[in-house]
Amino acid sequence: MSEAGLVAAQQKMTKAGVDQAAIDVFTSYYHQLEEGGTGLIREDTISPLTDPPMLDELDVDDAAAAQALDRTVIIKLNGGLGTSMGLDRAKSLLEVRDGKTFLDIVVDQVVAARRTYGARLPLLFMNSFNTRDDTLAHLARYPELSVDGLPLDFLQNEEPKLRADDLTPVEWPADPSLEWCPPGHGDLYTALLGSGVLDKLLAKGFKYASVSNGDNLGAVPDARLAGWFAASGAPYAAELCRRTINDKKGGHLAVRKSDGQLILRDTAQTAPEEMSYFTDEFRHPYFHTNNLWFDLEALRRVLDERHGVLGLHLIRNEKTVDPKDADSTPVIQIESAMGGAIEVFDGATCICVDRSRFLPVKTTNELLLLRSDVYSLDDSAHLVKNTDTTCEIDLDKHFYKKINDFSKRIPEPPSLRAATRLAVAGDWTFGSGVTVSGKAHLVAGNGPATVPDGSTLTGEITPETL
Ligand code: UTP
Repeated sequence: MSEAGLVAAQQKMTKAGVDQAAIDVFTSYYHQLEEGGTGLIREDTISPLTDPPMLDELDVDDAAAAQALDRTVIIKLNGGLGTSMGLDRAKSLLEVRDGKTFLDIVVDQVVAARRTYGARLPLLFMNSFNTRDDTLAHLARYPELSVDGLPLDFLQNEEPKLRADDLTPVEWPADPSLEWCPPGHGDLYTALLGSGVLDKLLAKGFKYASVSNGDNLGAVPDARLAGWFAASGAPYAAELCRRTINDKKGGHLAVRKSDGQLILRDTAQTAPEEMSYFTDEFRHPYFHTNNLWFDLEALRRVLDERHGVLGLHLIRNEKTVDPKDADSTPVIQIESAMGGAIEVFDGATCICVDRSRFLPVKTTNELLLLRSDVYSLDDSAHLVKNTDTTCEIDLDKHFYKKINDFSKRIPEPPSLRAATRLAVAGDWTFGSGVTVSGKAHLVAGNGPATVPDGSTLTGEITPETL
């Protein structure tokens, strides 16, 4: 039955004009899916990675760094919709601070680095069919952004969502666009090749790619890193950060015992009974930031050798065909993660970077911090932290998880510079000029409540105490 499913999916992709390399990748994952492969990486097959090189301890020659940056392209992943924040367009179009969106800030960072280092430094977004039009419309305000005739983006592939019961392509006449999904950010390599952008970059003399999530404004263009990567001669490198007790999520690198190869292990590749090892910040002390570097020539070579199929681990993503309707048909989306490519490059390496290069916005908790006075933007559009304290934010998911609910209730961020924790339970709307000091816990009342303009919040607060 599923052989028929595969043929139907391939035909659907061909009819829609999907690139043959993307169909081949999909086919290879489909077989893995049928075979029920778990893709688990067992703890006893790996050795922890405990001594990566530290960027701040390395000597990098300034001239060589600037030269390497001039041969670097910045790639930002921009294909996801940020569904966890209730968005249905690119998250990068959200306003972060000072009237600027993620996109504006990324553009400013690249333009500033071009100025500082005299580098060409093209900026490329990887869009999906969900995000392309809005993103390009917004970028039209930067007519000088494109360099060397290169495009500002390339498009991810699309693939059919598969019915969970029989692995045939799902049909959804009510909205046929929901029958398709992007194949995760592991599609980066296939899409770079299939779009022709990889060869365009090589033809213009670019050699290195620096890739990061569109929502990670900490991953700024970095000449020292470019210089280090160029001097290493490695085909691929992952940026890591030291884990703290709070860093339970996120993958980690490890050394495969059988051949000494560096590999990435994510939650999806960890057996439930081995999660205690996965989350142990002493056993696996560095986490994978999803910032990575690769050599464009090496990628071209590996893709040629493998006939366009890198063979990254399959991620089996179980959803419903309409993400907004939990009762719609259950589907499986075949996905892969770009960081998994570390194991297909012989001689791949890694580097531990400062925590400031990891500033993802997955939830409105993180967005609130970035919008607040804990951060400001400097002349190079880098987010600078204005305090040594770390503030933990915990907003009630019922009232603040979706961006619209959040923005309605916190139209102006409170001052968080002197705060160590802000926990909000229940339905509170914040007035302007509010300050949080130390730890503040807003307790749920019987109904909606308001934090008056100019209040200072500290300790436990109920609607009656304000
Ligand atoms: P995530 O899936 O981790 O982040 O992707 P997200 O966009 O916050 O996702 P949800 O919807 O709330 O779970 C990490 C980065 O990879 C990009 C996303 O845009 C994000 O920048 N991405 C993800 C792609 O470019 N393509 C994909 O197919 C998936």
